[in-house]
Amino acid sequence: MNEKKEALKDYQLVEMEVKARDAAENAYCPYSNFFVGCTVLGDNDQVYAGCNVENAAYPSTFCAEANAVGNAIADGVKAIKAVLIFTPTDVHTFPCGNCRQILNEFSNNIPVYSVCNSSTVEETLLCDLLPTAYGPHNLYESQAGFAK
Ligand code: THU
Repeated sequence: MNEKKEALKDYQLVEMEVKARDAAENAYCPYSNFFVGCTVLGDNDQVYAGCNVENAAYPSTFCAEANAVGNAIADGVKAIKAVLIFTPTDVHTFPCGNCRQILNEFSNNIPVYSVCNSSTVEETLLCDLLPTAYGPHNLYESQAGFAK
């Protein structure tokens, strides 16, 4: 279950980074001034971007990852193959806890790349960011009577 999937092609990673950087520029973050861009690679090999969209009612804020996932799902994506986060910061950012859960709904054993102003790209796996995740299998395997 935790075996590594086929590595992304270089051009796919480049596309993910370029689109995440572009999305971060459009982030609406007047309260935190923390710009985030995220891209997800769908099972159709298309790249979908999102940025954080804050709200005067702070808890109504949407993270970049949530918006990227929403864009992918709206286009018919059923599973996500990779995630990339860009923040124009000196340190790498990884998805917040809530976004780890959102991403986990659509694959767990996938690479998560983090790009920032440093010259290095950090890579980990979603299953390492959210080990023993609660997810769809908990409901499908339960006796609760949900549709299989
Ligand atoms: N943010 C994201 O977009 N993704 C994360 O994984 C961490 C946090 C946003 C939410 C808020 O707009 C700003 O960063 C500061 O927390």
